Amino acid sequence: MSKHITDHVEWVGKVDWELTRFHGDEYSTHRGSSYNSYLIRDKKTVLIDTVWKPYGSEFVTRLKQVIDLKQIDFIVMNHNEVDHSGALPQLMSEIPDTPIYCTAKGEAIIRAHYHRDWNFVNVKTGDSLQLGDTSLTFIEAPMLHWPDTMFCYLSGDNILFSNDGFGQHFASESLFDADVNFSDLMAEAMKYYANIICPFSPMALRKVKEIQAMNLPISMICPSHGVIWKRYPQEIIGAYLQWANVYREDLVTIIYDTMWQSTRLMAQAIADGIRLQSPDTTVVLLNAATHDKNDILTLIFRSRAVLVGSPTINNGISYAIAGLLEMAHGLKFKQKKAAAFGSFGWSGEAVKVINERLQHAGFQLVSDGLKLPWVPDAQALKLCAEFGAEFAQNL
Ligand code: FEO
Repeated sequence: MSKHITDHVEWVGKVDWELTRFHGDEYSTHRGSSYNSYLIRDKKTVLIDTVWKPYGSEFVTRLKQVIDLKQIDFIVMNHNEVDHSGALPQLMSEIPDTPIYCTAKGEAIIRAHYHRDWNFVNVKTGDSLQLGDTSLTFIEAPMLHWPDTMFCYLSGDNILFSNDGFGQHFASESLFDADVNFSDLMAEAMKYYANIICPFSPMALRKVKEIQAMNLPISMICPSHGVIWKRYPQEIIGAYLQWANVYREDLVTIIYDTMWQSTRLMAQAIADGIRLQSPDTTVVLLNAATHDKNDILTLIFRSRAVLVGSPTINNGISYAIAGLLEMAHGLKFKQKKAAAFGSFGWSGEAVKVINERLQHAGFQLVSDGLKLPWVPDAQALKLCAEFGAEFAQNL
């Protein structure tokens, strides 16, 4: 099955409604996803990207219903993580001599994954393929989000094929942004940015500005996941410019874990103190052990400050908080203030450990933190509220 995009371009990918976890267990996909592959038919025929390996057989079978595979002149692999290259071995078993256009890093990654000596053609920024009325120009985009990544631009139809860039894990029957709820779409695009692209924000900012400087007319952005930006390409470009440039809303996120509710009581009292001191600031409380970790990380991405609380457990912190701070470290959030809190019974190391991990993850500590023994009484909760108010004053 294919879906019409323009007179030259059709979608030949796979919508994965069942996907709930992506990158192993690293990313929650509440709305499923899609692996977008595109077929361009002009005087020459090009296939851009494939799909994830479990759908390889289905992909090739369906593609054969759309086109005689021998008519494909070129395969373009914009990025070779297995969700896009996984079907390549099955496809290449049918058309083994078809040239694969990719970056030099792309070739190395394909070889390292599939150990086959296919007909690779390395391309760089500015190289192009004349297809007939249209032409396809390559734009290297290293580390967005792998070293091999490139975009390509179809002149004539004015389409930017951006692979993971501008993507969203968003399964939809419709191909286009205007046919889905815009708020849901932007929320998924932001979650994708926060959890996948964020560590590479300096490159994302440079690449978007570079593309803007090319003054290419862009009628559509076709990513490798989710819907096509047809009505709102400038909106998602604008959003990337904001997200890539130290993004912060007037939001404080309080993340805690709790064993017997004492750290939760502290979190609530701290939130009350922030609200009293700074009524316009939105305060969100999340239990790290029960709330989706990628949604928490998206909220951290949006926040200007975070408070992280854990009870002391076996001289350390809860595994939910530890895991979250490890993920935050990898995502390289910028210019976010932070503080730690937690209850304890006898040893009380949690606040010190959280402080160390917050600093390791690049957060700016604004206090030494607050630790309180056993179950907080009214006096202790007043201390928590004062701690929250002081934290708000320091933002
Ligand atoms: Fe969608 Fe980086 O693969």
